[in-house]
Amino acid sequence: MTDNKRIALSSDHAAIQLRQTIADYITAKGWEAVDIGPTTPESTHYPKHGAAAAELVASGDCQFGIILCGTGQGIMMAANKVKGVRCGVCSEPLSASMIRQHNNANMLSIGARVVGEELALTIVDAFLIAEFEGGRHGTRVEMIEALEA
Ligand code: RB5
Repeated sequence: MTDNKRIALSSDHAAIQLRQTIADYITAKGWEAVDIGPTTPESTHYPKHGAAAAELVASGDCQFGIILCGTGQGIMMAANKVKGVRCGVCSEPLSASMIRQHNNANMLSIGARVVGEELALTIVDAFLIAEFEGGRHGTRVEMIEALEA
């Protein structure tokens, strides 16, 4: 457990509105939304936004990160290139719980063109409520970390 309540948020142009909705939602739940944009709707490049949020998580500045693009896939791929980041794309809450419980994911990616607002918020809830179970899952996460070394 940690008292770091900061969550890094970023997206590309495809997910600006859903990102704002999620920022408001997690703020209302007592988290600090560290929203690093972008704020304007012009077409932009998801890798730089995913990497920027991932750096905030990898450095320990933020406990978690929530990132979004059209599908959630491209920005997830970019975030996972940052050492120490474990990010999964989720389109339903079960996977969002499981990536915390079994994979100790520290970032969640959502596709704004895939899931609607209500479903996205249930996914965010599931991710933030679940806790890593450790044990045999810890061994497997250590094996992922070894691949980064
Ligand atoms: C942008 O058109 C789109 O490619 C992007 O949001 C994302 O879906 C990429 O994975």
